[in-house]
Amino acid sequence: MKLNIALLAGDGIGPEVVDQAVKVVNAVAAKFNHEVNWTSALTGAVAIDAVGEPYPDETHEVCMAADAVLFGAIGHPRFDNDPKATVRPEQGLLKMRKKLGLYANVRPTFTFPSLIDNSPLKRERIEGTDLIILRELTGGIYFGERGRKDDGNTAFDTCTYTREEIQRLAKLGFELAMTRGKKLCCVDKANVLESSRLWRETVQDMEKDFPEVEVTYEFVDAVAMRLVQWPKSYDVIITENLFGDILTDEASVISGSMGLMPSASVGIHTSLYEPIHGSYPQAAGKDIANPLATVLSAAMMFEDAFGLKEEAELIRSVVNKSLTEGIVTEDLAGKDNKAYKTSEVGDWLAKNI
Ligand code: IPM
Ligand code: MN
Repeated sequence: MKLNIALLAGDGIGPEVVDQAVKVVNAVAAKFNHEVNWTSALTGAVAIDAVGEPYPDETHEVCMAADAVLFGAIGHPRFDNDPKATVRPEQGLLKMRKKLGLYANVRPTFTFPSLIDNSPLKRERIEGTDLIILRELTGGIYFGERGRKDDGNTAFDTCTYTREEIQRLAKLGFELAMTRGKKLCCVDKANVLESSRLWRETVQDMEKDFPEVEVTYEFVDAVAMRLVQWPKSYDVIITENLFGDILTDEASVISGSMGLMPSASVGIHTSLYEPIHGSYPQAAGKDIANPLATVLSAAMMFEDAFGLKEEAELIRSVVNKSLTEGIVTEDLAGKDNKAYKTSEVGDWLAKNI
């Protein structure tokens, strides 16, 4: 099979982790006789530096022409510490999500048997966790009207959702639940927010179309607590953009490291696969970042974008093997064990494939 993949390494540790995923994808492709055609394109701070724009049109064309996008990370501290910056790397990510129509972000949370004790949470709480947070990705406060008034002394961001936006996300949630534990939890703040009330109303209206799915409604503040207390009680969670952003970082604690969590963003055009972690600038260029979230995102890409399940399973099993054998970066190694470099982990994975 021909696999046309757009490669957007981005900023910070992005290029390093993406490099390892490329090694793994190439190894899998060689083994299964696939032909990979990589096309690299600029995004994030590096794109701002090169062409003054974090998601240039040229990059968008590369993404549109590809079968899948593999993405690293975006962001640079030079912009974080400058609230007056008018162009920011993150705008590139948001523009990319919007222009590719990636309205659903699939973020699975699961545990790795060999890493259960890496989590600060108790083993009996987390062992066997298998949940997916389906985060709405192209609406809400991230894209609502915003601005300043009163000579810059008042600022506002607005959270807006249409029924259609909620429906298309919720439909994916119901369908996903049907393939799994048939439980769907709609997370909102309907006791306060009007947009949340529209979420709840819309999802309630859809329940009759999926009679087998058991639907619950919970407030986001309560879920923030229950997610780390009773993660096994969740199957599929659907939620709006900002709540999903926050809850998925929280959920990564269950797995033991943010460096492990992959994601897929799907919707209208080319799907995108990316680790949920950010650009981790403190580690950039040091060859110490954990590449596994990106490698596992590539596994999701094989399975979802290309329908190649066996290839995806091979990647997951080799990742598990690296964890069991301790071929891991410093975030997972613990102070008494050898920590491997990012590139060493990638080489080891490719060789074992
Ligand atoms: C994520 C990130 C992004 C987000 C940032 C970098 C804009 O935190 O993918 O979760 O908030 O969506
Ligand atoms: Mn985030």
